[in-house]
Amino acid sequence: MNTTIYYFSGTGNCLKVAKDLSEQLEDAKIVKISNKNMSYLKDTQSDAIGFVFPVYFLGIPAMLKSFIENLQINNDAYIFAIATYGGSIGAPFKEIRTLLQSKNIELSAEFAMMMPGNYQVLYPPVSPEEQTKLFKNEQEQIKSIASAVKASQHVTYKVSALINAFSKPLYSIFFKPKEKDKYFWTDEQCNGCGICSQVCPANNIIIKEGKPTWTHQCEACLACLQWCPQASIQYKKSTVNRGRYHHPEIELKEFLEREIE
Ligand SMILES: Cc1cc2nc3c(=O)[nH]c(=O)nc-3n(C[C@H](O)[C@H](O)[C@H](O)COP(=O)(O)O)c2cc1C
Repeated sequence: MNTTIYYFSGTGNCLKVAKDLSEQLEDAKIVKISNKNMSYLKDTQSDAIGFVFPVYFLGIPAMLKSFIENLQINNDAYIFAIATYGGSIGAPFKEIRTLLQSKNIELSAEFAMMMPGNYQVLYPPVSPEEQTKLFKNEQEQIKSIASAVKASQHVTYKVSALINAFSKPLYSIFFKPKEKDKYFWTDEQCNGCGICSQVCPANNIIIKEGKPTWTHQCEACLACLQWCPQASIQYKKSTVNRGRYHHPEIELKEFLEREIE
């Protein structure tokens, strides 16, 4: 079975999951979702298609939504989705199901994977001990997801009726990603290296007079803040004394690769 796994990732959790899963499947490739590949409009070759994404405010990243909306897929492809999340999953699959239904396509399988939470605007990174536990669990869960995908199994992730009802309103109220970048600033440690601009999946950052400038196309993924080697990017005052996180097994080089050929 020929599988394509599309992933969106700010700090590497989803890249790691996509990569690990592709290694368990026989004929699988992984493709990054970023501003540079939004013209990737057609995938009628893959027998199976997966979307791996982080939960954002109990829903899905805006760029993933546009990507799915634009993508032409075969009706008989086996479609699965893996949501990585830090603690409260919400109802992201409901959104994906709705997006696919408008194309008469079914979401066949839904998987949720708890990973270290990366929204350091609100909380510190999880401890190294907790990370180790989550990564061990990820390794186990990947095996069962791979078995389910190989067997084209139907899997539904159950969420309570309450969460289903309220996730969407919460998401709409709190998640205004494009406006979020007005709160980023750099402290005196910034040396204008430009890594923030390179890691941004939305191509939202330009380096002007040696400093990053955000151009209001933000996805709020925090890649800029989390990958800055100087930890000089801040969000309001909340991140000033906070640690940073990106998946320890994902190198910057690998994170930057995987644009569509
Ligand atoms: C803007 C934003 C919103 C988030 N919202 C949620 C959320 O509602 N629930 C949750 O459990 N985790 C939330 N998270 C945490 C991420 O879903 C989680 O850490 C994910 O694994 C990150 O994947 P990545 O490293 O591939 O970007 C949020 C993270 C960000 C940056």
